[in-house]
Amino acid sequence: MTTISVHAEHTYSVVVDRNILGLIDEHLSGVSKVAVIHPKSMSEVAGKVRAKLSGVTSIGIEIPDAENAKTTQVLEFCWSALGEAGFTRNDLIISIGGGATTDLAGFVAATWLRGVKVLHVPTTLLAMVDAAVGGKTGINTAAGKNLVGAIYSPIAVICDLDFLSSQSSQDYISGLAEVIKCGFIRDGRILELLESDLAGAKSPTWEHAPEIIARAIQVKAEVVGNDLRETLGTSSGREILNYGHTFGHAVERQENFTWRHGDAVSVGMMFVAQLAYLAGRLDAEVVTRHHDILAGVGLPTKYDAGSFDQLLTNMAIDKKSRGDQLRFIILESVGQPAILQAPDTALLIAAYAKLGQGETHA
Ligand code: GLY
Repeated sequence: MTTISVHAEHTYSVVVDRNILGLIDEHLSGVSKVAVIHPKSMSEVAGKVRAKLSGVTSIGIEIPDAENAKTTQVLEFCWSALGEAGFTRNDLIISIGGGATTDLAGFVAATWLRGVKVLHVPTTLLAMVDAAVGGKTGINTAAGKNLVGAIYSPIAVICDLDFLSSQSSQDYISGLAEVIKCGFIRDGRILELLESDLAGAKSPTWEHAPEIIARAIQVKAEVVGNDLRETLGTSSGREILNYGHTFGHAVERQENFTWRHGDAVSVGMMFVAQLAYLAGRLDAEVVTRHHDILAGVGLPTKYDAGSFDQLLTNMAIDKKSRGDQLRFIILESVGQPAILQAPDTALLIAAYAKLGQGETHA
């Protein structure tokens, strides 16, 4: 079992291993009621978890799948359920699900009685290496995605790798994009492990899967521990976790949110790799390395939506850009992120052209 400490508002552990749901019991001291928030697809697991909790009463709160969970209506539904159960400040919310579940349940916990404890049990690779760790919580509103939220850290995160075998292969591979991102921005060992067997890495049963997942979580823990509220604004701040995301979010919007997040981040990383190369900040061989690893595990590395104008507009409204200037996290080498502020539009268009051709520099 690997245990990773996250130093946030308080210090908490992320544990990674197989068959570890029994560890939930260690977090029940002083708790009299537990609310398990989960989507329908996790009903059976939630039932089993509830049946095994000792010395507490529990309720289950079933929410819609994926992004449909992150609405004000579902939030109100959860608040009502907690109210009916007489949920107090000493009680505990447990989330069991993917990133949308941890985002919503975290926000319910942040807002009920101005904050009750929450423990996350992420069931997808994306949630394990990203959403469940770092305390970002929130919902979507008419104004946009994730504009309403809070930083609210869990008391623990339990990553039971047994869940990953029930994910579709495409969803697991999409989650690998965030793992690869962590390799490029900080931990090159992740890249070396992947390169040792790119075909094998596509499966959650791969011998090195536990190690690359734990290493990605360690990267996130270190970055978040250094800049929980993303206020640093430097190349060691939380913003580096957005590597590939500015273009990736623009692609998600362009594709009406039909793309998997990791797939969009994959083309986003290819885009910024090309951009950094064209800006004279990154060697061609690292661009090739992006291509070979991403394509090697089955992630998209080519993207062409026709005109660049709409993508540029999408990037400008991405909340990650500061003020009215576009801002990209780029690499200067593996493990060395940097900030590229307000690049020339001609450079962006040239990087987009390379992305459309799937250029590899090899
Ligand atoms: N997903 C990026 C972050 O947590 O900051």
